[in-house]
Amino acid sequence: MKKLNLILLSVGAVFALTGCNDGPTGEKITYAKSAQEVYDQSCKKCHGANGEGNTEKKAPALNDRQAGELELDLYDVKNGGTNQSSGTDHDIMEHNMKKLIDKGYDYDPKAMALYIEKSFFKMPSPEDTEEETPATEEAPATTETPTTEEANATR
Ligand code: HEC
Repeated sequence: MKKLNLILLSVGAVFALTGCNDGPTGEKITYAKSAQEVYDQSCKKCHGANGEGNTEKKAPALNDRQAGELELDLYDVKNGGTNQSSGTDHDIMEHNMKKLIDKGYDYDPKAMALYIEKSFFKMPSPEDTEEETPATEEAPATTETPTTEEANATR
């Protein structure tokens, strides 16, 4: 149990370190929160606990694209209105992002893109490939729950 906690801790530390690397122009930027913290505390509300999106809030899914593409979208969202890198329109999200930055939810687009891909990315699975998709679908998040429960039980 102890060992597991240690492993989780060091994984977290690595994330925290990689989270505050170089900014867009190479200068060091230190963000108050890691990508994971920002996602959990803010993005999740609209884009879903697993990046699945939220139709009610008109927030698109973020789990259908990989880090490179996400990063471009995230730059656009943060740079407000230039829409140069991805060519997509993010008016609402740009507006949200300004507010989020005011509240201290700034983040490194690259770290955020990697976090989203690593945590949520699913290969698009069009219906017509059903035959090729056996019952080995990624295990649902429930596999992680016992770990935390056990960890808590040892307190
Ligand atoms: C208040 C709700 C809300 C919150 C909070 C929010 N978003 Fe969004 N987001 C939206 C909506 C609505 C859109 C779609 C409209 C648009 O792009 O302007 C969007 C679009 C996006 C897009 C573009 C997706 C695409 O399909 O191109 C990205 C990337 C994104 N959000 C990332 C984030 C990240 C990262 C956070 C957390 C820092 C976040 N969002 C927080 C509502 C939200």
